[in-house]
Amino acid sequence: MGFDWLVALHLTVLALGTGMSFANWLNWRLARNMADDEAGSSALARLRLLTGRVGDVVIALIWISGIALVMRFTGAEAANAGALPPAFHAKMLLVVLLTLFHGISRWAGLRVSRQGRTSLVPVASSAALGAALSAIGSIVLAVASFR
Ligand code: HEM
Repeated sequence: MGFDWLVALHLTVLALGTGMSFANWLNWRLARNMADDEAGSSALARLRLLTGRVGDVVIALIWISGIALVMRFTGAEAANAGALPPAFHAKMLLVVLLTLFHGISRWAGLRVSRQGRTSLVPVASSAALGAALSAIGSIVLAVASFR
């Protein structure tokens, strides 16, 4: 088989997403210890919003590349690829969780920055950690599925 661009894209965006979610959690850890007004308006807050917007694109690309890979197992190439193992379904559960955590963290983060609702900082922080841990879990389950 030649070089597999689709797997390369999948691994690139999931590596970006995993690293960014951890960095975003570190950012929230710092924000947690700040005075209220700073948590919403600082350079840290602007970095979170930017990371979040790039994260939206990265998550979309994870889904697009992942679904394209699944089509190899269910579409015309299915005969070559074999069946999807049970660990894959567990991985998909974590990917759904990862996407939900990202959404919660985006929702709370926007409210902290735009409306100064700093009571939501712990929510956003926990969701960011949840996204990072789900990403790690997805990697482990993907390796369990395909190796
Ligand atoms: C929409 C969600 C996703 C779908 C449908 C999906 C689907 C797939 C499929 C079908 C493969 C097998 C590629 C092959 O070798 O032919 C794969 C590989 C892989 N996926 Fe995903 N994926 C998704 C999201 C993720 C996420 C979020 C992560 C981790 C953060 C992840 C981590 C991996 C890894 C590490 C591999 C390579 C496994 C190996 O070859 O050992 N995937 N994915």
